[in-house]
This record gives sequence, structure tokens and C-alpha cells, in this order.
Amino acid sequence: MNILILGSGGREHAISWKISKSDRCSNLYIAPGNAGTSLVGNNLKININDFEEVKSNVIEKSIDLVIVGPEEPLVRGIVDFFKSDKELKKIKIFGPGSDGSKLEGSKDFSKEFMFRNNIPCAKSKTFNKRNLSDGISFLEKINPPYVLKADGLAAGKGVLILNNLDEAKDELSKMILDEKFGDASKNVLIEEYLDGIEVSVFAITDGENYIILPEAKDYKRIGDGDTGLNTGGMGAVSPVNFVDNKFMKKVEELVIKRTVNGIKNENLDYKGFIFAGLMNVNGDPYVIEYNVRMGDPETQVVIPRIKNDLLEIINKCLDKKIDEVDLDIEENFTTTVILAADGYPKSYKKGDEIRNLEELSNTKIFHAGTIKKDDKILSNGGRVIACTGYGKSLENALSNSYKIADNISWDNKYFRKDIGKDLK
Ligand code: AMP
Ligand code: GLY
Repeated sequence: MNILILGSGGREHAISWKISKSDRCSNLYIAPGNAGTSLVGNNLKININDFEEVKSNVIEKSIDLVIVGPEEPLVRGIVDFFKSDKELKKIKIFGPGSDGSKLEGSKDFSKEFMFRNNIPCAKSKTFNKRNLSDGISFLEKINPPYVLKADGLAAGKGVLILNNLDEAKDELSKMILDEKFGDASKNVLIEEYLDGIEVSVFAITDGENYIILPEAKDYKRIGDGDTGLNTGGMGAVSPVNFVDNKFMKKVEELVIKRTVNGIKNENLDYKGFIFAGLMNVNGDPYVIEYNVRMGDPETQVVIPRIKNDLLEIINKCLDKKIDEVDLDIEENFTTTVILAADGYPKSYKKGDEIRNLEELSNTKIFHAGTIKKDDKILSNGGRVIACTGYGKSLENALSNSYKIADNISWDNKYFRKDIGKDLK
């Protein structure tokens, strides 16, 4: 099969690395990719949100299967575009249609979906320009911390958690009236605060059945000890010690089964990854959010633990036979530490030469924001490299991750020193 993977982050390097190992993979393309993906396939310089451009490349390269990495093309309807186009109809595409993608694209839609399907989640109400004053009175009635969420996609920045009532009222007005997050905050959810530990659970569904992939814990804040600004994620570990069989059973019964049944009963077009961001509140799972794609950097620890041929899993899913997949999971620990450009998630420099990119034993380097120029590899984004380590224990895996994190060098390297430390 000729395969095109859309995206350019560490997630897409990990997915393309895994797909490239499949016997069924003939030619592999990644668009736009990064310096790492060019080691396992051919990068195509295209705008993945320009579907006509994607189409002409799919036809020119005789692509049989497209795997969509990030949420934006999904929410913009790339799957619908393929299904309604005469020439693309026959091409396989892995990811939900625009209706299923609303589970990530609209927090209001996903909340209503959870309420309808009796999926445990925080209580919430949605407000906009027309009922802003009701929103203000609502804030006065509830207890802090106040959780404000922009309804639409806001690149992971659309959630504010505030302790002060006046500040919460002020931010609510800014989100709605001043469109602080653009169109995404025309509608804002005020949500009950959940006190617990977060964990990410991933599944693949064909709209009828599902398989559950290994769980992971992500480290979202920029600073050690979970301090500072939110980022896309600064590290991840899998498995997660507090996710025992009892908790996982609850996740499967209350979250995954009900989500897949909801997708089926509501006729949502869905063949792809589903990612439930969960809060473990005293041993009970609550859904904080859905994503309709894999997580980044969670993919860089989840994918290496899957022993099966990922291409075969994806083909089974697209044939609506996901129930035939017998998952084989590596029991050992996998961890990843993100090397970022100093300054991220605010402004940062690009174009620094990255050195010492050799892999050591029990490690794997996944590129995120990198670009190849002549024979050099340069930094080209906020999150630059994911240093994945394997080990029989969490400590072992982390020590392997940190060996490469210390070894790789460029002028403006920054990374967290405490990934996984809270789990020991
Ligand atoms: P989201 O974009 O919905 O994943 O939210 C971003 C982050 O805000 C989450 O990873 C949580 O750390 C936090 N968060 C979101 N919703 C809640 C909530 N209801 N209670 C506590 N923390 C939350
Ligand atoms: N690491 C969180 C996410 O991918 O949304």
C-alpha cells in the first residue's frame, strides 16, 4: 500500500516510524513532516488544510490510504471531502468525519454528547453574548476554582482555571465579548472543577466496536513540579501506576463502551483514534475532554508499546473489523522527555543546529519541530525532539530518556527534569 500521513509533529514521526515497519507498506509519504519523518519516508511540502492540494498529491502518488494525525483537517472535514469526491471516494482515509470530529471541535457538543450518553463528566453550562449576564450570575452561585472553557479549537489554550470571582467574571466577558480566543470563545462553558489526577486513555473504534490502547500520563505545564504555562505536553509515561485493573474496568464500562455506543446510536461517522482525557477522582474516571486523534507526546510512548502491525490494525478498523484485532502490548515501561526551544510556549528562536542526535541503547528519538537544511538538522518549532526511553521499570526508562535528553545539544534547549517523578 502507498500511504500518506498528514502532520508534522512527534506524533506523526512515531506513527510513520511504526507504519514503515509494516510489510504491507510500499511507499510512505508524510506531509509536511519533519527531519525525522524523512528518515522513514518521503516528506511532501503541502498545506494539509488545503484539501485540493492534498487531493492532487494523493492522485499523483497513487496513495491507497491516508492517516490524519492532527485535529484541524478532521474538524475542517477532510474525511467528508474524500468521501464526497468522485476521484477520492475509493481511497481509504483513517479518522472521523466532521460530525464525529465535533467531539473535539466543539466542547459544547461533546458535553451534550456525554450528558445524553450518561458518561461521567463535570457538570457545565454554556453561555454566549445573548446570556452573558446569566453566566455572571451563575459564577456568583458556584464555588471556586472556576473553570472557563472556549467551545471551539484554541490550540490547547482555551481553558482558564481561576480562583478569584472577579477575575473569573472579567475573563468570561473577555472570552465572549472581546473574542479572546477568536471564534472559539463565542460560546464559553463554565464547568465544575474536578480535583484529581489526569490520565489519557486511547482507543481505536470502527464505529461499532473498539480496542483500548495503552494509557499514558502527560505533563502539560512548562515548569518542573507542574508549574507555569500550559503547553502541548512536555513529557509522558506509559503504563501509569495508578491505572490498575479496577480503574481500567470502570474506564471501559463507563467511558469507552458508552462513547462507542453513543457514536453508533447517534450515527456519527467514526473510524479512527479516540482519546479520552480523564480525571481520576478518588478512583472514579471523569471525562475532561475528547480528542479525535492521538495525543502528542503520548503517541511517543503508546505506539512503541504496541507490538502488532499498526497498518493491519488500521485496515481492520476501516473494514469495520476492529473486533478481530488481538492487541499485543509490551509490558515494559516507555517514557518520553520533550526537548523544547527555550521560551516556549511563548516566543522562541528557530534555526539552531541540533547536534548529537545518535540513539543510545533502549532509546528512540522522535523529531517534532525539526527541519533538514543541507546536511544539518535545525530547530523549527517550540517542541523540538521527543527523547523516548524503554526500561523494565519506570526509573530505568526515565534514565534512558534523560541520557539522550542530556546528550542532544543546541543553543536554546530546555526540558523538564521531573517527568515521571510523581509516580515513583
Ligand atoms: P482541556 O483542554 O479540556 O483538556 O483542558 C485543559 C486542562 O485544564 C486539562 O488538562 C486539565 O488539567 C484542566 N481542566 C479542564 N477541565 C477541568 C475541570 N473541570 N476540572 C479541573 N481541571 C480541568
Ligand atoms: N498532549 C495532549 C494532547 O495531545 O492533546
